[in-house]
Amino acid sequence: MIVYFPKLLITVLLLFLIDITNSQLPTVIAPGSGNNNEPGDTSATLLLTPSGTKNYLENRKAYVNDMSNEISMTLSIKGRIFIPYDRYQYKKNTSEDQILLLVNIKGTKIPNQPSSFTLRNYLNNSITYRDLSYISIGPHTKDIDPTYGAPENPHLWDISRNTLIGVVSGLSFLLIIWFVAANKFPEGENFSTIIFFPLILIDFMLDIVVLGVHGRDLKWFYICGLVFLLIPIFFNIMTSLYLISNQLKSSRATEQWWYNNLITALVFAFLSFIDLEALNVITSRCAGDETLNARFTEDGRKRINRSIVIIAFIEDVPQLIIYVLYQRYTVIPAIIPILVLFSACIVLLFKICYRGITKELDIFQKHLMTF
Ligand SMILES: *[C@@H]1O[C@H](CO)[C@@H](O)[C@H](O)[C@H]1NC(C)=O
Ligand SMILES: *[C@@H]1O[C@H](CO)[C@@H](O)[C@H](O)[C@H]1NC(C)=O
Ligand SMILES: *[C@@H]1O[C@H](CO)[C@@H](O)[C@H](O)[C@H]1NC(C)=O
Repeated sequence: MIVYFPKLLITVLLLFLIDITNSQLPTVIAPGSGNNNEPGDTSATLLLTPSGTKNYLENRKAYVNDMSNEISMTLSIKGRIFIPYDRYQYKKNTSEDQILLLVNIKGTKIPNQPSSFTLRNYLNNSITYRDLSYISIGPHTKDIDPTYGAPENPHLWDISRNTLIGVVSGLSFLLIIWFVAANKFPEGENFSTIIFFPLILIDFMLDIVVLGVHGRDLKWFYICGLVFLLIPIFFNIMTSLYLISNQLKSSRATEQWWYNNLITALVFAFLSFIDLEALNVITSRCAGDETLNARFTEDGRKRINRSIVIIAFIEDVPQLIIYVLYQRYTVIPAIIPILVLFSACIVLLFKICYRGITKELDIFQKHLMTF
């Protein structure tokens, strides 16, 4: 029976992947984004000039209110456009600060009314050829940068779908390796080594990449992201050095292991500065590997787990909040911030819940073996 299980698993995953890949096709004619008379909403972005940016930041609510009134008046489209005053982001690579604003354009069900798609095109053309339209007259609309126009904003879902396919493929790949390892050595803590720890490392890399690529989108994002990246590392280093030296002192077996597997030991000691879960990896005996059998004392292993949960509250919880706020307040959906939000959720969930469900996982693993 065991032989059939991986095949079954792979088949199910493949079917699932094919299913979500196919579901992409119909959305080519998503509402509001293609056919002229499709009902549905759409959204666009506007770029403010440097002086417009200053005006906006002085009094965001009033500015945006006046701006949307002016646009509605000059294009005679009252009630069809809506600019949220609290969502914006800085455009990359501009010499002076310039802000992007979101414009939501409502669809309509009334025949003979222009669709949201038509309105967006109209808005884009009026802004691009501002000298030929009334839009350059208004005291606020003159703050719109004509070189940028009003490009359509991609839908969050269109971007996350491909990301989701990637995440599911990656996870299923790890699941397969986990299954093989668990088959080889059921007593090991295979799950945390093969699935959980790689996720933590990916999450850490994404934390850095998102700051590098999107850090400047909002002024607070870079600072907050950096603080909640560096402070936890400091605590990890302290805790890790303490735990390791404590184990080396109190367990002869650990000391012996340390000198016999010096490279592995040093690599994972270093990785534990990023996340203490690395210390669980070297005690996991994953797939029966004796280099991963550091023989920490029971007490030491409990202490590792307790530290992981405590540090999660100064690392993963704030990061999750920051990434959620980024999604809430920025304008243009992008892949990396979505990915990092995904991974922050998964890692936090594992860190806090996994230790509670290890027993169930063990039972599940045994079921698979005797299946
Ligand atoms: C950003 O600006 C630098 C120089 O100002 C330029 O080399 C680079 O190509 C620009 N990047 C983008 C994405 O426009
Ligand atoms: C906006 O209008 C300009 C001028 O017609 C055009 O070149 C550009 O492609 C349009 N952009 C979008 C996103 O429709
Ligand atoms: C510590 O947590 C890991 C999961 O990361 C678990 O496998 C292990 O059994 C836990 N150890 C103790 C002593 O609770």
